[in-house]
Amino acid sequence: MRLYRLPKAEGIDDLTLTEAPEPVPQRGQVKLRMHAWSLNYRDLMVATGRYGVGGTRPGLIPLSDGAGEVVAVGPDVRRAAIGDRVCPTFMQGWPGGEVIAEARRRALGGGIDGVLAEFVLVDEDDLVHIPPHLDWQEAATLPCAAVTAWNALFGARRLQPGETVLVLGTGGVSVFALQFAHIAGARVIATSSSPAKLARARALGAAEGIDYRAQPEWQEAVRDLTGGRGADYVVEVGGAGTLPRSIAAARIGGEVALIGVLTGGQIDPAPIMRRNVTLRGIFVGSREMFEAMNRAITLHRMRPVIDHVFPFAAARDAYRHLEGASHVGKVVIGA
Ligand SMILES: NC(=O)c1ccc[n+]([C@@H]2O[C@H](COP(=O)([O-])OP(=O)(O)OC[C@H]3O[C@@H](n4cnc5c(N)ncnc54)[C@H](OP(=O)(O)O)[C@@H]3O)[C@@H](O)[C@H]2O)c1
Repeated sequence: MRLYRLPKAEGIDDLTLTEAPEPVPQRGQVKLRMHAWSLNYRDLMVATGRYGVGGTRPGLIPLSDGAGEVVAVGPDVRRAAIGDRVCPTFMQGWPGGEVIAEARRRALGGGIDGVLAEFVLVDEDDLVHIPPHLDWQEAATLPCAAVTAWNALFGARRLQPGETVLVLGTGGVSVFALQFAHIAGARVIATSSSPAKLARARALGAAEGIDYRAQPEWQEAVRDLTGGRGADYVVEVGGAGTLPRSIAAARIGGEVALIGVLTGGQIDPAPIMRRNVTLRGIFVGSREMFEAMNRAITLHRMRPVIDHVFPFAAARDAYRHLEGASHVGKVVIGA
């Protein structure tokens, strides 16, 4: 079978197409024929050795996200059967409840080998069934970005209809958060780098858009749009460079979901205290969250937003497209 590895993890050009024998499922494992994959910002960090403590293991198979068909099962498999359409979970070994320490080290395409291969073995406990109305490429967008957005909005204090959600930018996580908040009956304010992307955000259900290049003090625009109150939730993907403004854009007692590391900077903790804001660290989510999310996606017949699909043989181009950051939603690799 064909698969990709990162022999040195020194950049996108290091992504190497290679061959290996097809894997054979052992007890409790299923073998998947992968039909599509998707990229996350994290995959750029993995490819350049900037992800996690100790960097990227040489020779790693990249990517956490993909969708595939069960083509063989090992002994004692009960949760899946041949022909099932499934996605592996981002973190292997986190079925539900609070995050399990060991599972944090077993993230696909990070701590352990990922899914950018034609065939993949997965433990039967670490997969979810795909919403029936989604095609392979749509389903491949779900494991990291969508589950992260779901966890941010529904993983702790659950978003209520009528509340306001601020999403930063129009990348994978933020567009899913926009879509989930919209179907939950919340009001969404989106920021972005361009009017064209903001028009897309509005078409997807954002009530308001703020161009953060034209309005660098965008937290004030959020306060103005909420009658001086601020947003109930902020889906914070920007990192230290945007966090002070995200805290200022949150209402007193509001929640900021800490997700991203796109920018660097210094944080003054005093406004967090003065505004009684809760900062909640998010690391993707459990299988239970993935399953709850899939029920909502199925009920609302929600469709992930795909920006562009690249062929398997052009995976490097997909990485470069993500790096260019012209996308809205998800960058996908098709079989
Ligand atoms: N903690 C977790 O579990 C978890 C899970 C998934 C992702 N993440 C992190 O979340 C971040 C986003 O990931 P992703 O996969 O959604 O990335 P992505 O698809 O590459 O999206 C990045 C987008 O963020 C926007 N952006 C960039 N700089 C910004 C800034 N200064 N202010 C506001 N928006 C900015 C841009 O959209 P516009 O041009 O529209 O502004 C850009 O296209 C990354 O740091 C990633 O590592 C964390």
